Amino acid sequence: MVVPDSQDEMYYPPIELQRDAHVPDFNTYLELYKKSIENPDAFWKEVADEFFWKKPATGPMLQHNFDVTKGNVFIKCMEGAKTNVCYNVLDRHVKRGNLGEKVAYYWEGNCPDQHTEITYSQLLCQVCKCANVLKKLGVKKGDRVSIYLPMIPELVYTMLACARIGAVHSVVFAGFSAESLCERIVDAQSCVLVTADGVYRGEKLINLKQIVDEALEKCKERGCSSVAKCLVVKHPALRTKSGASCNKLQTPWDGACDVWWDEAMRGSPEQCEPEWMDSEDPLFILYTSGSTGKPKGVLHTVAGYLLYTYLTFKYVFDHRHGDVFWCTADIGWITGHSYITYGPLANGATSVLFEGIPTYPHVGRLWEIVQKHKVTKFYTAPTAIRLLMKYGREPLQKYDLSSLQVLGSVGEPINPEAWLWYHSVVGQGRCPVVDTFWQTETGGHVLTPLPAATPLKPGSATFPFFGVEPTILNEHGEELEGEAEGYLVFRRPWPGIMRTVYKNHERFENTYFKKFPGFYVTGDGCRRDKDGYYWITGRIDDMLNVSGHLLSTSEVEGALTEHPGVAEAAVVGRPHAVKGECLHCFVSLKGSTDFNYSLVQELKTLVREKIGPIATPDFIQNAPALPKTRSGKIMRRVLRQIARNDRDLGDLSTLADPKVVELLFNQRNEAAA
Ligand code: WTA
Repeated sequence: MVVPDSQDEMYYPPIELQRDAHVPDFNTYLELYKKSIENPDAFWKEVADEFFWKKPATGPMLQHNFDVTKGNVFIKCMEGAKTNVCYNVLDRHVKRGNLGEKVAYYWEGNCPDQHTEITYSQLLCQVCKCANVLKKLGVKKGDRVSIYLPMIPELVYTMLACARIGAVHSVVFAGFSAESLCERIVDAQSCVLVTADGVYRGEKLINLKQIVDEALEKCKERGCSSVAKCLVVKHPALRTKSGASCNKLQTPWDGACDVWWDEAMRGSPEQCEPEWMDSEDPLFILYTSGSTGKPKGVLHTVAGYLLYTYLTFKYVFDHRHGDVFWCTADIGWITGHSYITYGPLANGATSVLFEGIPTYPHVGRLWEIVQKHKVTKFYTAPTAIRLLMKYGREPLQKYDLSSLQVLGSVGEPINPEAWLWYHSVVGQGRCPVVDTFWQTETGGHVLTPLPAATPLKPGSATFPFFGVEPTILNEHGEELEGEAEGYLVFRRPWPGIMRTVYKNHERFENTYFKKFPGFYVTGDGCRRDKDGYYWITGRIDDMLNVSGHLLSTSEVEGALTEHPGVAEAAVVGRPHAVKGECLHCFVSLKGSTDFNYSLVQELKTLVREKIGPIATPDFIQNAPALPKTRSGKIMRRVLRQIARNDRDLGDLSTLADPKVVELLFNQRNEAAA
């Protein structure tokens, strides 16, 4: 890498930001990067020194094997050390850093009249109380706790309470269906489930407890009765002013299992000694879609995840004391884990915790909150940017956005048009856009600009973060130098990389390390340009990215084929102006079934119920046959082209019956949207 000197249109960091930035210019980035690669031990040791260790490490900062041909794949960070993540992100600030009175979160509910703020001392107190509640419910070190909560402060309390007592949290996005929740509980064998009675999303009231009960019923049908207790938060929007439940919901209740959060917390002690954990003990499991079969329980561990989310947050958002940071993601995804819960708190930052949606009660909601809290660093997904672009500049012009300094993007490739709008309209041309590429598996940003240091190219995630060594391989596993396009892989670990797939190390090795021994394989395609900038080109496996959420085609196909009328289904991605990509489904029906409007509606409902609303197909088309090779493999490339109406099909000689293609093109026009 050299300081880029290109004719391309680039966006250089503003001088005001460079003045006292952590990484003030590109040369400093290069120096630090060099150090992190040549002497990772010294580099990460300096970072670790900022934290509290009950016992120091006996091993080096990082150890690993990425080569399946030489033995088991493993990654270890700071072997022998003992610490507690909750202690480091809370007590350390309150006791030693005098940040007790600093606001940790400004909570903004779904409705603008619902909001509150929580200081670091209050957060510590609530977390300790919750930790004691969990203990009383029987949770012990190493036990799994499933969390199915909306974006309310109790979600953060519960995660940190788990971290405090050494329990492993498994947060399940509260938009997932009962089926998806059940699947995740069964895999984790959780002993406690924490949820809420309900939640408003926009105007819609969702009965979460009912979904939970359905999920637990399904668990029992599958022989899993691990969940002994269900702790239920009364959602603030579902109480009267005096705190009593209002009768907007029927909350199903089982006295033997269910416990109200408020009752359990009342009188729970405000002190709780942290459990001192080994550096490689699990911190949490977070499920992510797999290209085959069930979702994978991505496991992150104590020390490495703490160091990595701390450092990426500090540098990528150039965090300073007076900042107000806002990541609009849901904590149910990794972005929320790393950049709402752990990264900001490790830095003693003030964040906005937002429960609502960008368009409720009006399309200026995000900007209203930016103005209200004088947000300095704002982090969202391209799909939200594209959605808000549709409403033009007017909703932004009503608000004062002059506090903004850095804008972040995450979750999917950002198209240059959205990038430019974000930069010029939201950032008023002043704010660098940090396009952060990473994954549930990577724990934190791996390719990303640094706001004061990196000259930006719209649409490029630019360069590796410290300690990260990317390379591009061709199909034969050969490394490509210079300008090139191929598989994005990483040659060595960084502290925040996942350690295993929960209870399935073989799947971990097969998914990420088998194809190219010696490398971690991201599953994304990538191009390197003449200046060394990396450009993510999208998934190269059978995964789809809808509104920044990864979905597995096989999971959606599985849901469709559960319909008694469907013989076979194939699902591909199709470009969508707001979501980036949407689902186009081909269904082959059984003899007696008709393809009609009501069938399409039934299929959509089925997918929603099996997976969740995010997986609802946009298009379902009748497919009397599917394009298959002579060996019976579906040619997805052809289906993708049909979905896009792209007739430039190239070589079809491997197809068993090429006539199918024309047939499907004809049927496409009847695809029900
Ligand atoms: C995609 C989300 C392009 C990518 C943090 C990756 C991106 C998957 C970007 C991981 C980006 C994420 N540019 N693509 N800046 N960020 N992706 O596990 O395909 O939900 O593999 O983690 O999202 O999604 P996940």
